[in-house]
Amino acid sequence: MNLETDYLVIGSGAAGLSFALKVAEKSHVIVVTKGEMNECNTNYAQGGICSVTYEPDTFEKHIHDTMVCGAGICDLDAVEQVVTRAPMLMKDLIRWGTRFDRTPEGKYELAREGGHSEHRILHHKDETGAEIERTLISQVKSHRNIEVLEYHFAVDLLTQHHLGRLVTRHMDDIECYGAYVMDLKRERIFTILSKVTVLATGGVGNVYHVTTNPHVATGDGIAMAHRAKAIIANMEFIQFHPTALYNPGERPSFLISEALRGFGAILKTKDGKEFMHKYHPMGSLAPRDVVARSIDNEMKVRGDDCVYLDVTHRDPAETINHFPNIYRKCLSIGIDITKDMIPVAPAAHYCCGGVKVDLNGETSIKRLYALGETSCTGLHGANRLASNSLTEAVVYADQAARHSAEHLDEYTLQRNIPDWNDDGTTATEEMILITQNAKEMQQIMSNYVGIVRSDLRLERALRRLEIIYKENEELFQKSKLNKELCELRNMIDVGYLIIKQAQSMKKSIGLHYSLDYPLEVPHDFPLRKTSSEF
Ligand code: FAD
Ligand code: SIN
Repeated sequence: MNLETDYLVIGSGAAGLSFALKVAEKSHVIVVTKGEMNECNTNYAQGGICSVTYEPDTFEKHIHDTMVCGAGICDLDAVEQVVTRAPMLMKDLIRWGTRFDRTPEGKYELAREGGHSEHRILHHKDETGAEIERTLISQVKSHRNIEVLEYHFAVDLLTQHHLGRLVTRHMDDIECYGAYVMDLKRERIFTILSKVTVLATGGVGNVYHVTTNPHVATGDGIAMAHRAKAIIANMEFIQFHPTALYNPGERPSFLISEALRGFGAILKTKDGKEFMHKYHPMGSLAPRDVVARSIDNEMKVRGDDCVYLDVTHRDPAETINHFPNIYRKCLSIGIDITKDMIPVAPAAHYCCGGVKVDLNGETSIKRLYALGETSCTGLHGANRLASNSLTEAVVYADQAARHSAEHLDEYTLQRNIPDWNDDGTTATEEMILITQNAKEMQQIMSNYVGIVRSDLRLERALRRLEIIYKENEELFQKSKLNKELCELRNMIDVGYLIIKQAQSMKKSIGLHYSLDYPLEVPHDFPLRKTSSEF
């Protein structure tokens, strides 16, 4: 049985659900998500969500911090749009039920993280993402126009290719008609036809061996869009969070929020010595790329597996009150953060690139939008400013909702798409063929395409990935599909995009740091005057 809808939203994080809520007033929406609704990066976000809220903060300062962090190659229009629209979107989240922490006087309590010149991060303890996700899920569940299909995996996007036409990346009239979707419980693939399709599939962390991202972050949306011939940009800029809990064997790695450094925690080596001042005047609160590279260097020079975060000088009760989640987690493995230093190491965390979109969130394929971490809006440039991503997700969801609603009547459902055909395929007998290749790919990406790269490392990574690609394609062609096989196919595509786009850089900038090229550090950013009304 195939399905038809006005809007097909793929992904149930902040981007997908906030978009669904915005368009559902007038239209029917199907949200597909490959696990339970709350299994997404959003649910794990700790630090918070950026928005200029009170003086002395201004839009100019937030714009400037974003540009500095992004090494000056952010798209200024995108930055201005996100920064100036953010306060409106915070009102929506609050109206839907999100509880941001307040001071005893009733004002919002604003946190600060690396690269921010002001306190501007709204948060709910150290569990902001879970609070936002809870709010969105409860709104979506009670909406009569939104149908949510959990355990449904989007396999591929539908375009003219499925009508037998040749589709190339240079065409400007590619259209998206929906997606082939796998019902993971019934093990069957069916078609969802839609007037508008939205990719909100989150990040790519699992392409790497060590990541803060949950298992669902396998870059599916980016890979699907790439296969459908959409433009993909900035994939070389993979952000490594400097401080994931060093707890060997745990995957994903538990995050130790940057907000802890905003609260006063200091990075130290095993012998208790501070080191960040050697690398940057902002010390432990320097931009994330600088901190991650500095930690990587300290670990390599000293031969250590981790460095440490020390918050023991702060009042224990305050620490526990602000960071109950981090306190509980560390205590569960025998670390009392009010008394002990916390072992930390960098982990793949955020993909600044993705499916290229315009200011409305529309991709180079008509009727296809990409939102949140799957998209490349230009906001982050070469490096994302902490806590700007949740803001980007809700701002672009809002833009895309308004833009797509204006055009919905122009689209008709494309009912000539053939059903999924898996004649002649058989079930994969040995899952080891998939799991071992996934592990090899993750090792290749971490060792050769990680925080520090070189031409030789990238070339080596590409050669090895090609072998894995060929083996997986053979398996893909002859097998009845399962989630793991599709995810590996997607991760290989994403790994390939990261390597190829990194190879084309020929310079070091922001998160793409190569031993073969000196680091470009731009110094100033001419900014346009922006109204400071918020
Ligand atoms: P997600 O929330 O990841 O949602 C993606 C959804 O797509 C999931 O539901 C997934 O199951 C679904 N999906 C994926 N592929 C498919 C498929 N093939 N078929 C069907 N469904 C699919 N950002 C901040 O701004 N502030 C923070 O404090 C912060 N802290 C973070 C802490 C951690 C530990 C992590 C991992 C990230 C953090 N980030 C933070 C980043 C931020 O959480 C994400 O960038 C943001 O939540 C992404 O939202 P999204 O809606 O784009 O994707
Ligand atoms: C954190 O809390 O350190 C994560 C913030 C982010 O990734 O934006």
